[in-house]
Amino acid sequence: MSENLIIAQGSKSEKYEILLQQIKAIVSGESDNIANMANIAAMIHATFGFWWTGFYRVAEDELVLGPFQGPLACSRIRFGRGVCGTAWERQQTIIVPDVEQFPGHIACSSLSRSEIVVPVWHDNTIVAVLDIDSKELATFDMEDKLWLERIVATLYSDKQ
Ligand code: SME
Repeated sequence: MSENLIIAQGSKSEKYEILLQQIKAIVSGESDNIANMANIAAMIHATFGFWWTGFYRVAEDELVLGPFQGPLACSRIRFGRGVCGTAWERQQTIIVPDVEQFPGHIACSSLSRSEIVVPVWHDNTIVAVLDIDSKELATFDMEDKLWLERIVATLYSDKQ
């Protein structure tokens, strides 16, 4: 497997399409999902130039910081807290166009303006969340949700 990331020129959808293909190739050849989360975070981050891209993993009753790209982040988030803990509680992807309008948003970085959090499922349980922060308002929409849900679905797809 090549270690050079290819970033498509063109629309967001075209970028995600090429990104997903490369993520599938990496993840299918590696059984350790910490390694896979690390590469997925790096590949998403490099493709789109987001402010912060990473995973929090469920550890007992909290989310604990996992592989990420970007500045220093909070190590632990409780169930139902912040955007991450709320996505875990509601069991669904949450798109936040303006973090200042989200009650309880946890500001790991004051420069973060919008955010998306996508649950990672394994055996009908949420085992992690993918969290992406942007320095611009309203960066994420339903297209990001769709592609990012496909991306995180690669983690446990053939490893049940
Ligand atoms: N903003 C998140 C916390 C994690 S950082 O953005 C990396 C939240 O409210 O859950």
